[in-house]
Amino acid sequence: MSLPSLLLVGCGKMGGALWQGWLDRGVASSVILDRRCPAPPAPHHVVRSAEEIPQDFKPDIIILAVKPAGMETALASLRPWLDDTIVISMLAARTVESLRAACQGARTKIVRAMPNTPAAIGQGVTGVCSPDLDASERELCTTLLSAVGVVAWVDDEPQLEALTPISGCGPAYVFLLAELLEKEALRVGLPSDTARLIARGTVSGAGALIAASEEESAVLRQNVTSPNGVTAKALDVLMAPPAWPEAMTKAVDQAMARAREMAS
Ligand SMILES: NC(=O)c1ccc[n+]([C@@H]2O[C@H](COP(=O)([O-])OP(=O)(O)OC[C@H]3O[C@@H](n4cnc5c(N)ncnc54)[C@H](OP(=O)(O)O)[C@@H]3O)[C@@H](O)[C@H]2O)c1
Repeated sequence: MSLPSLLLVGCGKMGGALWQGWLDRGVASSVILDRRCPAPPAPHHVVRSAEEIPQDFKPDIIILAVKPAGMETALASLRPWLDDTIVISMLAARTVESLRAACQGARTKIVRAMPNTPAAIGQGVTGVCSPDLDASERELCTTLLSAVGVVAWVDDEPQLEALTPISGCGPAYVFLLAELLEKEALRVGLPSDTARLIARGTVSGAGALIAASEEESAVLRQNVTSPNGVTAKALDVLMAPPAWPEAMTKAVDQAMARAREMAS
């Protein structure tokens, strides 16, 4: 695959996952700016600070994957390379407006992306929005971000904020489910290795089944729930007010409120 020249800034958990995805897909030459990233195979090139970026390197796309608190410093150090680029920010709670301000008047198109942790194994969900891109630029960004999973474009930043407590935080909810199932397995008398095996296997198996199926999630649930059967008894508890449906609504509202607070 041939892509424009890329500058990846920050090669930690999220940047590293992206970079691995690009390597797997044979993406063309890129420069990685990171204080500790191990030397990548040619033709990729790693530098430890912006001063080391080769003078003749002209990035078309800059992917920013540093911690949100490092945004201003990183973009200030990149000012000589910012004009006529697309900056894709993976930073949580950093608005397009704040990214634009940190670009200090550069002719830069801004993209905001919200990935999630399964990106580390190429199975992430990345929400994306941008007020600046045309259709072909969006397609290019989709290709780049697809390296770590599915890409969901949304219309604007309010929609990206709405997506954050679902797909951004969602893996934590699923991990909590695995944790609770394991705890219950122990409580009802199963040995710890079995408890771990069945809890994790159940969550990953159900996830794989959803991925392999075109049925609605509710239909998959109904398919394993005989009327008045064992699963039905458990679901009566989980679906009764104020159990899971109400708790999930409250959790999503709280997470969204916190994201707004952090962005302001
Ligand atoms: N991890 C996730 O699941 C996740 C999910 C959604 C969004 N995100 C977003 O992704 C971004 C990155 O998160 P992460 O977990 O991947 O962080 P991380 O593992 O800490 O990676 C950031 C890397 O960038 C390096 N770095 C920072 N500023 C630099 C600079 N100016 N020059 C050179 N290297 C620099 C850091 O080095 P030092 O450690 O030496 O500073 C570190 O190696 C965050 O903004 C986060 O909001 C992450």
